[in-house]
Amino acid sequence: MPQADTVFQSRSDGISAEGVRDQYADGKAAKVWEIFIGDKKSRTENYRNFLVEKLRDNGCKRVLDVACGTGVDSIMLLEEGFQVVSIDASDKMLKYALKERWNRRKEATFDNWVIEEANWLTLYDDIQHLIGDGFDAVICLGNSFAHLLDNYGDQREQIQAIQNFEKCVKPGGLLLIDHRNYDSIMDSGATPAKSIYYNSSHTADIKTSVLYVARKPALVTMDYVISTGQGDGTCEFRLSYYPHQLAIFEDILKGIFKNSESHELYGDFKSLDKVDNPAFYIHVVKKSK
Ligand SMILES: C[S@@+](CC[C@H](N)C(=O)[O-])C[C@H]1O[C@@H](n2cnc3c(N)ncnc32)[C@H](O)[C@@H]1O
Repeated sequence: MPQADTVFQSRSDGISAEGVRDQYADGKAAKVWEIFIGDKKSRTENYRNFLVEKLRDNGCKRVLDVACGTGVDSIMLLEEGFQVVSIDASDKMLKYALKERWNRRKEATFDNWVIEEANWLTLYDDIQHLIGDGFDAVICLGNSFAHLLDNYGDQREQIQAIQNFEKCVKPGGLLLIDHRNYDSIMDSGATPAKSIYYNSSHTADIKTSVLYVARKPALVTMDYVISTGQGDGTCEFRLSYYPHQLAIFEDILKGIFKNSESHELYGDFKSLDKVDNPAFYIHVVKKSK
């Protein structure tokens, strides 16, 4: 049983604790995800320029989105002319991406969009047939990585997942990965309901609980209350995250991307001197050639 689950229930009722821990398996969050993140276009406008420029400046053409969810970032990149392979562990989330690909199949980039179910822990094996010489960039955005909890108390699965991401990046390619500013969440005990990613006027509240195991922050649970404007008007779902502390996360990346050409850090997609207490940290690591 996951370490944290011995003290705390991390998923909504009815979601299996075995195999890939798909926190979206009850379909609740998937259904309201697009309401939650707000208008897709205005959400991606916040970081479209940053992402597209970063990728183009580094000559990236082929991108692997390892947490595509309903497809928001992948769709943005396809619209910008990138070749995209998208994976996610949740079929409930992928259903929405697959539907969009079908609806837009007459556009060549969408017709060529590869979408597969895969898990970060086995990613390299799961998609070996798609890797070739490696992707120009791997992206893991939208606070996705923190979904992978620390089941053994030593972060080994998170390290394994990032090792798999690294193996998918070609020499000289990029990994873009983000997480919430958990240092700040642990200090204040609160999560900002609106942020660069989640703009929606429908988010009523995010109730935040932090669990410490043996004096180490082990789990942050967020109970989202979303007003849907449908049925009884609200939808609630619970997602749990590993509270990545910035300094530790940076060390993990450094350990895996040995001799990386660069490791840049941004706050809410801006340079750190332009943003005070960012809601999100975004790491951009360039793999050595
Ligand atoms: C917060 S959603 C974000 C989706 C999308 N990037 C966005 O910003 O809208 C996180 C996604 O990560 C996926 N995920 C979590 N753990 C995973 C794992 N071990 N392997 C693959 N995908 C995983 C979830 O299924 C979910 O769709």
